[in-house]
Amino acid sequence: MTPPSARDPEVRFTFDGRIIRARTGQTVAGALHAAGVRTLSWSAKFRRARGLRCGTGSCPGCTVAIDGVGGQLACMTEVREGARVRRIRPRWLLLPADTLSSLVPAGFQEARWLRSSRAWNIAAPWIARLAGQGLVPTPSDAAAALPAPRLATRDVDLLVVGGGPRGLAVATGAAGQGRRVLLVERRARLGGRLLEQAGGADSADALAAAARAAGVEILTGAQALGAFSEGVEGVSWGSRLLAVRATTVVLATGTLDREIVLPDGDRPGVMLPAAVARLVLVERVRPGAKAVIVRTPEGEGQARSIAALLRAAGTEIANVCTPDEVRSVVGRTRVSGVRFARGLVACDLVVLCAGERRADELARQAALPQEPHVP
Ligand code: FES
Repeated sequence: MTPPSARDPEVRFTFDGRIIRARTGQTVAGALHAAGVRTLSWSAKFRRARGLRCGTGSCPGCTVAIDGVGGQLACMTEVREGARVRRIRPRWLLLPADTLSSLVPAGFQEARWLRSSRAWNIAAPWIARLAGQGLVPTPSDAAAALPAPRLATRDVDLLVVGGGPRGLAVATGAAGQGRRVLLVERRARLGGRLLEQAGGADSADALAAAARAAGVEILTGAQALGAFSEGVEGVSWGSRLLAVRATTVVLATGTLDREIVLPDGDRPGVMLPAAVARLVLVERVRPGAKAVIVRTPEGEGQARSIAALLRAAGTEIANVCTPDEVRSVVGRTRVSGVRFARGLVACDLVVLCAGERRADELARQAALPQEPHVP
């Protein structure tokens, strides 16, 4: 693991009122992990602690409020000087939400409340706090952080969704033939899975430089929302909403890690390989001191590379096992061990390796024909 460099500019932000020091380019999740924070949110129904899990913006584990705006993914958001980050703690944390279901029974007509803006203004913050999943911004927060989205349209020959190696290569090739190419990438940095491989950052930077040199217009921090009527693709980019009309669209959205379901396997500290690799290689943070790796036959290759990466980062591998050997994951607000039939193995990190699946949500939304993912 490359140690943090003294040349990296320091950024300071607050987390639940506490000052956190981070480096420019780190994500909020990476900086908080380095500061020892594991619980980032709570599940809506049973209020179980949640934390950094997928590292790819694909689960609700790292949802926090930033500058008064809830629903921000800490693993996808870069730190900003002076940002106010806080967890959205459900009220009555120990009370299962179902206990109050008689107040909001099935068939509850929220539209009736909405008709009375006074009643709704009183009720909405309480409903949000109880669920712990939303946050109603104060008028000043909303004005500062949620300006009305500006709408714009863009006409291009080719829209590429995804700034990983394949997306960059396709975009560069098309731009080299004189086509107008727009590439959108959800993260702030290009490279996709390359950034999860040792030495991959240099290749990612080289591909990004080649795309720029070929004239590809690149939007980072931009998320393709879906395909809409008349060939328009919706892209959210900062406070802008782009309607992109493209002759051709290439979805280069890559793959996501598959999950493994374990008893109590939702505890903070149970992570998928992408989150672990990004902590080590991009954030330069040691994911844990002692790890248990759980792998399926499809995840054997992943397990080997993650074990090598973790050892290089100074993490001890306490055990490598299959899912059916695990009795339960132990710990409440952070993992403290894994229970097996033969006893407890102490650890502060559990990595689930089950191979990858295609990230095909956009293709499904657009009702495109699907092919099986061949690893
Ligand atoms: S979305 Fe951030 S950890 Fe899954």
